[in-house]
Amino acid sequence: MKNTIEKIVSLCKRRGFIFQSSDIYGGFSAVYDYGPLGVELKNNISQLWWKDMTLLHENIVGLDSGILMHPKIWEASGHIGAFNDPLVDCKQCKSRYRADEFSEEYQSVDWTTIQCPNCGAQDCFTKPRQFNLMFKTNVGPVEDSGTEAYLRPETAQGIYVNYLLAQGAMRLKIPFGIAQIGKAFRNEIIARNFIFRTREFEQMEMQYFVKPEADNEALRDWKYSRFQFYTKCLNLNESKLRFHKHKDGELAHYAKEAWDIEYEFPFGWSEIEGIHNRTDYDLARHQEFSGKNLSYFDQINNNRFLPYIIETSAGLNRMLLTVLSDSYWEDEKNNRIVMKLHPRLAPIKAVICPLTKKDGLPEKAREIMNMLKSNFKLVYDQQGSIGKRYYRQDEAGTPFGITVDHQSIKDDTVTVRYRDNQEQDRISINQVKPLIEDSIENI
Ligand code: GAP
Repeated sequence: MKNTIEKIVSLCKRRGFIFQSSDIYGGFSAVYDYGPLGVELKNNISQLWWKDMTLLHENIVGLDSGILMHPKIWEASGHIGAFNDPLVDCKQCKSRYRADEFSEEYQSVDWTTIQCPNCGAQDCFTKPRQFNLMFKTNVGPVEDSGTEAYLRPETAQGIYVNYLLAQGAMRLKIPFGIAQIGKAFRNEIIARNFIFRTREFEQMEMQYFVKPEADNEALRDWKYSRFQFYTKCLNLNESKLRFHKHKDGELAHYAKEAWDIEYEFPFGWSEIEGIHNRTDYDLARHQEFSGKNLSYFDQINNNRFLPYIIETSAGLNRMLLTVLSDSYWEDEKNNRIVMKLHPRLAPIKAVICPLTKKDGLPEKAREIMNMLKSNFKLVYDQQGSIGKRYYRQDEAGTPFGITVDHQSIKDDTVTVRYRDNQEQDRISINQVKPLIEDSIENI
């Protein structure tokens, strides 16, 4: 019997949401490719986040910085020294584990008593050692230590080192924010749970610059606002969302206070987004390492200071897995699987089906398709029975089935079939566009 996450993985492959990277070569661990439906869903989610951050907040601007940056940035940020996971190796079967998976107090564990979960051997583990998660590469044609660079493990640093340029160009006054969506890379020791923890992923981060004394209030407001995003914009089940506050031992090297928003995945409660008070840690370190004055000039009070930073940091791929987990529904009564995606998120908004392949029905269906295709992502489907066509789209999360039948030729009406309750209405062709538009805004 497959568990839910395995069922989601198999649906994602079958319907073209997500594929294992390099599939024909046997796969490449912890990297995934997004198929035709996956890329639409991912774009829909990231556009909602971008809209929520940069359109709805006049004081938040966007940025797109490079994945490769000056290597000193990672010294200054503390990632070269402190961005480590503790790892242990089984000497018998060579399996590798994060030591903190066995116990948060892994330093005081007696490793001779621990059994390897893979081969069952005892007294087989190496001592825990720190493993840096950054991917190293060389820039330019010569490989030596002077050419070393890193693939960024977070997008945040690109914002910090550009913050005064963006602030000056846009004449931003504190408090203000800078938002960025982009790839990040981490050489995770173990990657599991599908796209939850991968070595290449996308982050959606927003850094909010405030007066030092305004940090607690800003953190509180952003916690509220980010939670609302999941319930209102993504329409997720609120009972599956919660906050988790980091204890002292859990805090990242840059954080004074940190909260995770967690979701109850089929494999348990896990983090989807972090909201952090990073204080002036990053700006102070970049000021020290670059030798440049990074203070903000407050014209109203005629003084200079290093702003504090409240960060909201979400993983786009994890958010997508959250949306998939939240919408997966086995409709046992009707023997079908449905992705109950909000129409706003659905990769395809409607399937347009001629009931049969003759009597002018395909032509009429094409007319509707051509009328609407510049507004919404639609598919045209005339293959197989109408029931099979609908069930295919139920798995893809398509909210509406628009069917052209013989009556459509006579009176310009179609049937609309609703994905979740399978009810049907007859509506005029002119009502199809407002129906889809309203569902995106209102449901
Ligand atoms: N700039 C702060 C930062 O990067 P983080 O808690 O390490 O904080 C933020 O990461 C978010 O990035 C996480 O909540 C998660 O959604 C996503 N993320 C982190 N590592 C990931 C991985 N290996 N695979 C997928 N998403 C990841």
